[in-house]
Amino acid sequence: MRIGILREARRGETRVAATPSTVSQFGSLGYDVVVQAGAGTASGFVDLAYEEQGARIGDPLEAEIVFGVNAPTLEQRDRLRPGTTLVAILNARLDDVLVADLAARPITALAMDAVPRISRAQSLDVLSSMANIAGYRAVVEAAHEFGRMFTGQVTAAGKIPPARVFVVGAGVAGLAAVGAATAMGAIVRAFDVRPEVAEQVESMGAQFVTVDFQAQESTDGYASQMTAEQQAATATMYDDEARQADIVITTALIPGQPAPQLLTAETIRSMANGSVIVDLAAANGGNAALTVPNERVVTSNGVTILGYTDLPGRLPAQASQLYGQNLVNLMKLLTPAKDGVLVLDFDDVVQRGITVVRGGELTWPPPPVSVSATPNQTHSDVPPVVREPAKHRSSTSPAAKVGLTLAAITAFGFLTATAPDPIPRHLTVLMLSVVIGYYVIGKVAHALHTPLMSVTNAISGVVVVGAMLQIPSDDAPVRSLATLAVLLASINIVGGFAVTRRMLAMFNKGA
Ligand code: NAI
Repeated sequence: MRIGILREARRGETRVAATPSTVSQFGSLGYDVVVQAGAGTASGFVDLAYEEQGARIGDPLEAEIVFGVNAPTLEQRDRLRPGTTLVAILNARLDDVLVADLAARPITALAMDAVPRISRAQSLDVLSSMANIAGYRAVVEAAHEFGRMFTGQVTAAGKIPPARVFVVGAGVAGLAAVGAATAMGAIVRAFDVRPEVAEQVESMGAQFVTVDFQAQESTDGYASQMTAEQQAATATMYDDEARQADIVITTALIPGQPAPQLLTAETIRSMANGSVIVDLAAANGGNAALTVPNERVVTSNGVTILGYTDLPGRLPAQASQLYGQNLVNLMKLLTPAKDGVLVLDFDDVVQRGITVVRGGELTWPPPPVSVSATPNQTHSDVPPVVREPAKHRSSTSPAAKVGLTLAAITAFGFLTATAPDPIPRHLTVLMLSVVIGYYVIGKVAHALHTPLMSVTNAISGVVVVGAMLQIPSDDAPVRSLATLAVLLASINIVGGFAVTRRMLAMFNKGA
């Protein structure tokens, strides 16, 4: 089958659905790629670069699969061939007219913005990819408007106070903003109605603002609407935080609903002259009362409010690369045989979840995917992960667990009763270490896993030394076990250093 890459028709759109590097990956899945002339120009990718990666420049609407960033225009839709699969950000939750139009055509339409937020689908999650860029770019825009340094300094000419940044909503965009602002040296505070994200905020060097109210647990990885009691409890906090902040970045979102209005006109008027608000929720009505979508507004008291809705497009090459990679990952899922034939499997919640229209039949909205939130990610570049329902994970049944424990206890009892001294003593120490180690490591926060790994390296070093002392033994089993211990512990040490080296390389500025 052929994949067609559209040149985006929407005014001001700088992104493209494929980059030369993602185009090359479709070939290995068995697809031919046709790119519309000039499709990547606004992102900095020339036609020749696509051709060098095996794509052809031509008419993408002749292809059996059509990729776009935004929904195609009416003229483009009229040119889609029967049986085409269209893949784009369709905004189907809010755009009933577009959904009805697509359903009236003999095509299949997949919405990249409807990927359920489950851990298995993270690699396709376009909303997370784009929100991540938007959060970073929001800080850059804010820094530009603010016109002062973020980091505090004491110089011979005087003291510069650090900027104070308040981030509302610690989802993907919020965490990216927290990461960027702390990296620039600002004092960052953040609030979210989901208290489980506090650990992620704090692990990035920011302070999590707490409000005393009964939080609701998320069932789909997103927040639900606040109760009146919660709203009252948070209103004063927003007012206080905004007054004290130089920069406020708002990212609060409840899917399928207008953005919750959190900063009132009165609060904005009480903010200091020169403060900046970047309202990421502008497209959905805004989290701040005076936001105007796509506009830069300066209030009478000198507060600048940015309502830009194109923040990912302001970093077009990277936004296109991430979007393109999300599409590659989608095609890996939809091409199980790697034979260039797209297969849509409705038993898969991810594929079902993104299908708006299948062969001319309306399949929107999809049944809800129920998941429970887990606060187990710590980096700004990683979206919050939600756990899939238990049926999707392999788990040991309680009966099997009891059986395994009994078998382990019996084996341990047998060995201690029959083995010669000092083996029972050493075995007891080993078993206790395993039990204690299991519980200790299980309780260590993810942010501390790297230092933990250094400790295991040290333990492996001790194992290597002990095992080397045993290698000259006359006893063949002892010699074999000692050799095995040296091998395994050495793998752990070398592997540990290799991983640490890779992590450190991420921070290498290549000076
Ligand atoms: P997300 O769902 O990952 O994060 C939203 C967070 O807001 C959640 O953690 C949620 O718990 C929190 N929240 C909801 N109601 C709240 C309240 N009343 N107070 C405090 N926190 C609250 O969403 P994501 O992906 O981070 O996107 C955030 C926003 O950024 C969305 O509105 C999205 O449309 C927007 N966005 C804007 C772009 C732009 O160019 N302006 C580009 C990409 C995303």
